[in-house]
Amino acid sequence: MTNPTQTGFSLAEDGVNPSEVPQRTLYTGAKMPAIGLGTFGSDHASAGLIAEAVLGAASVGYRHFDCASVYGNEAEIGQSFQTLLANGLHREEIWVTSKVWNNNHAPKDLVASCEQSLKDLRLDYLDSYLVHWPFPNYHPPKADVTSRSHDAKPYIHEKYMETWGAMESLVERGLVRHIGTSNMTIPKLKLVLRDAHIKPAVNEMEMHPHFQQPELFNYLIENGISPIGFSPIGSPNRPERDKTPEDTVPTADPVIVRIAERLNVHPAVVCIKWAIQHGQTPIPFSTNRRNYLANLRGAVSEPLTGQDMSDIAALDKNNRFIKGQVFLWKDNQDWEDLWDVNGEITPA
Ligand SMILES: NC(=O)c1ccc[n+]([C@@H]2O[C@H](COP(=O)([O-])OP(=O)(O)OC[C@H]3O[C@@H](n4cnc5c(N)ncnc54)[C@H](OP(=O)(O)O)[C@@H]3O)[C@@H](O)[C@H]2O)c1
Repeated sequence: MTNPTQTGFSLAEDGVNPSEVPQRTLYTGAKMPAIGLGTFGSDHASAGLIAEAVLGAASVGYRHFDCASVYGNEAEIGQSFQTLLANGLHREEIWVTSKVWNNNHAPKDLVASCEQSLKDLRLDYLDSYLVHWPFPNYHPPKADVTSRSHDAKPYIHEKYMETWGAMESLVERGLVRHIGTSNMTIPKLKLVLRDAHIKPAVNEMEMHPHFQQPELFNYLIENGISPIGFSPIGSPNRPERDKTPEDTVPTADPVIVRIAERLNVHPAVVCIKWAIQHGQTPIPFSTNRRNYLANLRGAVSEPLTGQDMSDIAALDKNNRFIKGQVFLWKDNQDWEDLWDVNGEITPA
């Protein structure tokens, strides 16, 4: 059962009208839906299943999709976009992000990688294109956290700015509307803001009730960069290799569970509601219609109370789940070295 929308694209009867979904206004004035669908299958959801979820999510009202070349599914997702556009959805109604992987930071490789993503996604421009990680260290998909690249390198600002220059050239060519960063820290961003011709419009970062990154979040807001929150539910089904005994489970937190019971929703939906109200743009992953619809409904249903928001603010445990161990560049380093925890870029 479907309802036609203004453009002729059919919205499922139980779907959410995209015009009711909150939006973020970026510094360019562009509007980005304040919730998107994640598309990283965490090594277990197939490309086909995720492409199907993109179709299903669009039919229930999603208009924002977070993609990346390394997720290995852009060609399949591209078929879904083609279907959607052939069925009356207008290109300007959707927000599509992709990201360049770490082995393609060299300007020539970066441009070729973006062109390949556009070809795979069957689009002629991206709404945003991000540098996935600030480290140019290749590791193959599914690599164990103990795996290290022999030619691993630290963050070298001059090199990053060469990469950024190639990102800027994509904007100038009209292939990309906005460029952004991901997995960055304040010390690195300070340098990028100092030296960029086109400043990042968004920064994608891990954010959930147990990892709220308040300093980085505030820094971004103060500098007109919109924060995108990845793993907003705490990535409960992330690959085993990304789990450590110290990791907590936001959806099992008694405060989140109590609010979820009061609202009669899954605790995951409380995480999404908190994220949107707090000011980031969550990009929850799901291939389950009931779940991705519940998450989108969470964006438009009754807001959390002020008390809920302050109770959740108090849950922060500074517990990072996606630690990035594979990016370490020398022996005897700790994953925290990747995150400049002393307020300075960790020396090479
Ligand atoms: N920039 C980066 O470096 C980076 C890193 C990691 C992730 N990301 C992006 O962020 C996206 C989301 O992160 P994530 O996939 O790590 O984790 P997540 O969104 O926090 O968690 C996804 C998991 O939660 C479950 N779930 C979703 N909605 C639910 C609901 N309403 N009720 C119950 N369970 C629910 C899903 O299972 P079902 O499928 O069974 O619903 C899925 O396994 C990724 O897909 C990717 O696009 C970016």
